[in-house]
Amino acid sequence: MKQLYIETVGCQMNVLDSEMVVASLRKQGYELCGSPAAADTILFNTCSVREHAEEKVYANLAKLKQLKASHPEKIIGVMGCMAQKDQRLVFERAPYVDLVVGPGQLQRIPELLSQIQLGGGQQVAVSLVRKDGYQEQIRRSHETFDPLRDPTMRPTPFQAYLRIQIGCDKFCTYCIVPMTRGPEQGRPPQVILAEAQELARQGCKEITFLGQTVNSYKFVEGDKVTRLADLLEMVHEVEGIERLKFVTSYPKDMTKRLLETVRDLPKCSTYLNAPAQSGSDAVLKRMKRGYTVSDYYAMMDRIHEIVPEASVSSDFIVGFCGETEQDFQQTVQLVERCRFKNSFIFKYSVRPGTRGATLYEDDVPEEVKIRRNNELLAVQNEISQADNLKFLGRRVEVLVEGPSKMSIKRDEQGPIRQMTGRTNCDRIVVWEGNERQAGNLLSVLIHDASSHTLFGAVETMEVQPDVVALPSL
Ligand code: 5AD
Ligand code: SF4
Repeated sequence: MKQLYIETVGCQMNVLDSEMVVASLRKQGYELCGSPAAADTILFNTCSVREHAEEKVYANLAKLKQLKASHPEKIIGVMGCMAQKDQRLVFERAPYVDLVVGPGQLQRIPELLSQIQLGGGQQVAVSLVRKDGYQEQIRRSHETFDPLRDPTMRPTPFQAYLRIQIGCDKFCTYCIVPMTRGPEQGRPPQVILAEAQELARQGCKEITFLGQTVNSYKFVEGDKVTRLADLLEMVHEVEGIERLKFVTSYPKDMTKRLLETVRDLPKCSTYLNAPAQSGSDAVLKRMKRGYTVSDYYAMMDRIHEIVPEASVSSDFIVGFCGETEQDFQQTVQLVERCRFKNSFIFKYSVRPGTRGATLYEDDVPEEVKIRRNNELLAVQNEISQADNLKFLGRRVEVLVEGPSKMSIKRDEQGPIRQMTGRTNCDRIVVWEGNERQAGNLLSVLIHDASSHTLFGAVETMEVQPDVVALPSL
């Protein structure tokens, strides 16, 4: 058995990509191990969305320099968005790397590893750069190989990601994703359905559809157009699947029909992630997001009108080029008005190769970005805490994921552990439970809440009167 060590950073797409790569390498006789020192092959699945994520990968690669010098037979590979973006630059910064593979070429990893083992030297497999070929060629070069699955690589055995869309065509000016993951393309509905059925067969209960703009999903076959709402309806019928989610939504494409589908399908989670990015029209325009603040409010109204119990989360970039204090305060107002379940907040990071990097100056000082980040986070946390407190005394249905991080940290042994799971609206719940609850849908009574977590107890079974009232002898 060859030993494989893989480290994954970045978004859910990367988590899924790593699952696929591990599945394909298992077929070649690899098994997973826990450290680079024990590994024959070391892979880093990388992210390019912010500079910080890239620098961390280069720092991790630097740490392997000695190991590679003393064990030249070990293969080191860089895969994912940074591999696509930096290509041969990876070899310049870390000459002992053997393999660079972009996210659209991951299916070639087994073959490329064999070539390296046969003495073929450094290998590069990347997708075509946009404009470097015919549209169809570019598309094909970004395709991935999704049907291979490996349950052991998932967040839990009962939850899986399913890619329904590759790439992005929105070209927000700050974002590198349209360059690293290529043109937007919907995967065929039949392929998606078959994969969902395979996941159900493997014991998966919750499927999360993935796409950069998942609700813009479109697949055209003759005169038949399939949308996300149609996919949800199709996969809803798959026996064994109990919950369906989808991320990440593009605010402009949150249609009435999609929301009605979310409302009408009982298995559909009422959680929506629809990044606003900013609460200032001037900033949104420079970001080229394609909507105004009032469009965003109209979307929120539509959500609450059609799916009153929906919970919405958002992403924000603070300190984007030219963002004034007034722009930022408008973002604070938007957060206060929309009352998101939670927000992911990022400091703007210039990405060479994007329109933003050439058009605008990164003129907000780092300390201002940090302050705005903290301020917005504090506003959001207060909202999250207040809204979570509304759950006190309520029963929620939870899909049990397994022992909580705290339980693992405390090294709790035996079946009685602190357990964790999520509600239908994606809130995290913890309680004292039993490891055998994992994978079940369970009713939990909430008795405490923080901004990130609901704390509860599983109700003891109601004692049936006919069992209690034993006939007296
Ligand atoms: N700088 C900071 N944050 C970014 N994001 C995307 N590109 C950048 C960037 N250049 C954020 C957006 C997106 C999330 C995945 O990452 O908020 O929604
Ligand atoms: Fe990036 Fe915008 Fe596409 Fe999202 S929609 S992946 S932020 S370009």
